[in-house]
Amino acid sequence: MTERPTLTVPASLRHARIHGLGGYRPERVVPNSEIVDLIDSSDEWIQQRSGIVTRHRARADETVVDMAEAASREALQAAGVEPGQIGAVIVATVSHPYQTPAAAPILGHRLGIPNPAAFDISAACAGYCYAISLANDMVRAGTTDYVLVVGVEKLSDFTDKHDRGSAFIFGDGAGAAVVGVSDFPGIGPTLWGSLGDQADAITQREAWTDLRPVMEDPERTDPVRWPSIVMQGQTVFRWAVFSMAQVAVETLEAAGVTAEQLDAFVPHQANMRITDAMIKTLKLPPHVPVARDIAETGNTSAASVPLAMSRMLAEGEAKHGGLALQIGFGAGLVYAAQVVVMP
Ligand code: COA
Repeated sequence: MTERPTLTVPASLRHARIHGLGGYRPERVVPNSEIVDLIDSSDEWIQQRSGIVTRHRARADETVVDMAEAASREALQAAGVEPGQIGAVIVATVSHPYQTPAAAPILGHRLGIPNPAAFDISAACAGYCYAISLANDMVRAGTTDYVLVVGVEKLSDFTDKHDRGSAFIFGDGAGAAVVGVSDFPGIGPTLWGSLGDQADAITQREAWTDLRPVMEDPERTDPVRWPSIVMQGQTVFRWAVFSMAQVAVETLEAAGVTAEQLDAFVPHQANMRITDAMIKTLKLPPHVPVARDIAETGNTSAASVPLAMSRMLAEGEAKHGGLALQIGFGAGLVYAAQVVVMP
């Protein structure tokens, strides 16, 4: 028997960091006043219970890929990285309206990235933090030198405008990051996980296949319900406040960083009250700036963390090169968190 040859693999791990961020918010700003009549609510209630004042909504002809492209161009420019240097494209989204093909290969083509590995991931509001973890591992292991990570959602396509529990929460937008080789560690250990027994807590209401019999049978007159995303608000709220705040604490420990040493806290922009509760559990000192982008941008799921962080950097609220704790959590239920060096 011939001896099996030993595979050639990288012998040591490299460092990775985020080299640049970009964000895109659609032009149209939708205030609470445009939403309240359909859900028997008020601007005051929405602001008090969620902190949301406005959200952005994409045009009917503006796609997930369009928004991802705008955010990616900004991230590439900020990173000073050419499309030709990108080896992989990961798009985190739950609102790209094609089962297949994925958004990532189309995005790579539009950006002129030659032949990238390209795929979408579905981890809802944790999608960006999941993708940062994957990109970190890919770069560290030597699989590729630069990865484009995008969190993007057009949730307006999947929101039931009459649903009191969700109609006011979701917004559209995209955030992007270029993750690449570094001479210092720029992405700390990821704490992540899932609770599949809580799949009902945030879920698309119908499966696509539920629509088929109704659409194909001319005799049926029952109305077809669009597969909107709905949630059990209080269940999600309690989980986020009790469990996710604890994950945030453990993420700091894993990175060997104290709350005092943070230059920014960027939680998923789910609800301002969830953010406030996390600040208490983390015992975050008042000098640490906290992302509060939800007020203007709503909850953009996979896009929320990169959108919030890029805004903090652009507005000088957080300092370039500082340490940020970021955490995403949402439908699955799933979550992921890590400490990163901001670009
Ligand atoms: N406008 C006005 N009143 C509303 C309302 C709305 N949109 N939705 C519910 N209410 C009313 C209810 O009828 C209830 O009235 P009652 O006390 O007279 O019975 C009261 O407000 C409280 O309802 P409840 O469902 O307990 O609201 P809440 O305080 O839990 O707030 C959310 C609702 C959705 C804001 C909150 O649960 C939440 O933010 N959850 C987390 C959602 C989230 O972050 N999702 C994203 C995760 S990725």
